Amino acid sequence: MTVEEIKDLEDSAFREIGPAQNPEDLERLRVKYLGRKGALTGILRSLGGLAPEIRRIIGQEANRAKEALETALDEALRSLKDAARLAEPPATDVTLPGRRLTRGRLHPLNRIMAEVCDIFLHLGFEAVEGPEVELDWYNFEALNLPPDHPARDMQDTFYFNDQVLLRTHTSPMQIRTMEVRQPPVRIIAPGKVYRRDSDITHSPMFHQVEGLLVDKGVTFADLKGVLTAFVHQMFGPEVGVRFRPSYFPFTEPSAEVDIECVMCGGRGCRVCQATGWLEVLGSGMVHPAVFEAVGYDPETYTGFAFGLGIERIAMLKYGVDDIRLFFDNDLRFLRQF
Ligand code: DAH
Repeated sequence: MTVEEIKDLEDSAFREIGPAQNPEDLERLRVKYLGRKGALTGILRSLGGLAPEIRRIIGQEANRAKEALETALDEALRSLKDAARLAEPPATDVTLPGRRLTRGRLHPLNRIMAEVCDIFLHLGFEAVEGPEVELDWYNFEALNLPPDHPARDMQDTFYFNDQVLLRTHTSPMQIRTMEVRQPPVRIIAPGKVYRRDSDITHSPMFHQVEGLLVDKGVTFADLKGVLTAFVHQMFGPEVGVRFRPSYFPFTEPSAEVDIECVMCGGRGCRVCQATGWLEVLGSGMVHPAVFEAVGYDPETYTGFAFGLGIERIAMLKYGVDDIRLFFDNDLRFLRQF
């Protein structure tokens, strides 16, 4: 055994490592030279039989060659792995086109709500908001609807207890406002309301806008003027308006406001049930009992009030025949507005 032989062995190992193409080839070479029966291992194992001075020299050389081969094999394996990783497609393909941010839009109900409020704000009304969880006093009693009043039947709702309920209309905001302000009062109150009602034209939750105007000398002519102006701005100046006698406990007299059917132009169709007219809101002169409930003197002040349903107006304006479409969150529907 000579130093030359070890160097030759090392050289031939390096010549084989150089062109190795995959980890399996490298592993085979590691076994061939450094494995239990490997060439270098054999040399190291046979050192014991050598004379001490020779053993030292040969031993040193064999150990150096062993370390050099280990390092070379490790490096060759690492660069094979690096090459493989570079050949893979990158996790982020920077050549792909960017993702478009699609623009959102207002929900049709929010659009109609904003349009309605805008019209009244331009007429000098101020918007106020109040609780959806309401007391019986505001929702019914102060509005001249005592506990056993039959008109309560049309507005059944969720009761938390005897006195606390989900408001059935925005009319309680009339009371809440008059309680804390003195005339003149000129407000609208937009918001959500709740009723035990569900079919293609009724949803258990829906939206209303309430209106209230109180001052000295307010007459039914003011009511007609304001609501006609509203209808003409909302549906167009040519649309016919009709005030039809009705009943609400909190107004006297009361009137329902109809517009000429927007579907058939008043000729009569399925939507207007052949009448040529569509009901769009309730209204009336504030009942003296309501003024008394808030401490206003009915001999000094008069006023009018109205309430309109946003879903109903949206359905008429957009020709939607099922109210549930507004709440299904189906983009095929919502994208059309
Ligand atoms: N609160 C009524 C309802 O929900 C609508 C209404 C009618 C409001 C007449 C009014 C009004 O202020 O004067 O059916």
